[in-house]
Amino acid sequence: MAMAHPIPVSFFLVTTLLFFLNHSLSPAHAASELVEGVCHESQSYSFCIQALESDPKTPATKDYMDLAVIALKLGISNSTATRSYISRLYKNPKTDPRKKPALKGCLSGYDEAVESFKSALGELKEDPLTANYDAKVASDGAVLCSDFLASAGIKDSSISDGNRFTSSFSNIAFVITNHLG
Ligand SMILES: *[C@@H]1O[C@H](CO)[C@@H](O)[C@H](O)[C@H]1NC(C)=O
Repeated sequence: MAMAHPIPVSFFLVTTLLFFLNHSLSPAHAASELVEGVCHESQSYSFCIQALESDPKTPATKDYMDLAVIALKLGISNSTATRSYISRLYKNPKTDPRKKPALKGCLSGYDEAVESFKSALGELKEDPLTANYDAKVASDGAVLCSDFLASAGIKDSSISDGNRFTSSFSNIAFVITNHLG
């Protein structure tokens, strides 16, 4: 009597189990696989994980397009913050006037970097190939800035950290947009 419906009962149990397994594991698991895959392709795995996961929306992303939007927005806000820091330093009357040409060079480098990230974000859906190019060239402004600092003998860890962050976000966004189109 207890074994009257062995097949339907076990079928029900197995499908229930699969349903719960699927729902408890798959969304977070898929997102972290996406992020991990991208970060393995990037220049620095640990920076990439930490940087992308600084956005609370990252774990829920399901595709490269959504992740590209997150990475480019992080690139925009991060490079804009560095640009503001350089601008304050440039305008500060206490700043050594001999440093100003290099700081001005950095500012124009950062204008380009911020613009490139913004262009890439705007082009993502219509023109992923150009977005991919713009994501890549966003780091040029940071390289330019670091060259200006080096030739003027300026050591400023906030700017050099910013240069590294900008180059890293550029690299991450390049890696992600490589998968589009
Ligand atoms: C830029 O991004 C890096 C990496 O996530 C972070 O450590 C840093 O605090 C950010 N800087 C700003 C100003 O947001």
